[in-house]
Amino acid sequence: MNSTPVIVAIDGPAGAGKSTIARALASRLGLEYLDTGAMYRAVTHAAMDRSVALDDTEAVAALARSISIRVADGKTSVDDIDVSEPIRGGAVTAAVSTVAANSAVRRSMRDLQRAWGLSRGGGVIEGRDIGTVVFPDALLKVYLTASPRVRAERRVAEVGGDVDAMERSIMERDHKDSSRSDSPLSTSSDSVVIDTGGRTVDAIVDEIVAMIAPRRTARRS
Ligand code: DC
Repeated sequence: MNSTPVIVAIDGPAGAGKSTIARALASRLGLEYLDTGAMYRAVTHAAMDRSVALDDTEAVAALARSISIRVADGKTSVDDIDVSEPIRGGAVTAAVSTVAANSAVRRSMRDLQRAWGLSRGGGVIEGRDIGTVVFPDALLKVYLTASPRVRAERRVAEVGGDVDAMERSIMERDHKDSSRSDSPLSTSSDSVVIDTGGRTVDAIVDEIVAMIAPRRTARRS
């Protein structure tokens, strides 16, 4: 037995199915699940709530360090106040890319994410830079993707709206997330890329679970 944490990194663009797959996978593996996007959303909401200008990088970074963010059981809280609903609203969604591009904020979030994984002996962690930056030694790195059209159709089925407009907004967010200088969204050479278009959650989870068992055995030996 060794005590290396069993980290499964699930990265990919918005709407690729990361949350659904990561949650189902964590439950199948008996591991906990962390949604790191909720952390960036929580900082964004806190800044807007306290009228901190999002382009004031130092002030937003200081705020990120001073608040207590908890993401667990499908809920997100900041300083013990439940912000699960407002962080999914349009205002936060439109602004979060700016906060996620702030290097000092990313440093704080990375520290929290690493501490989360290490204190639990592992977990399924979902985000954009988990396999590339946060846990480069993860047991398994999965990069989930789907075409912008498929992702827009899924999002519209959840929250309503126009598919063309949603597709444009998804492509804009992709561009921001993958062109920022700090930890851009990208695949790493050792990640497994899975296109989730036209496939069931169960089939994808089965495929990922089948890749984990031999890796756990190999790590133990
Ligand atoms: O997954 P999401 O849509 O809730 O993520 C919100 C934003 O945070 C999105 O712009 C990408 C960014 N993000 C990031 O830069 N790094 C992460 N590990 C997770 C999310």
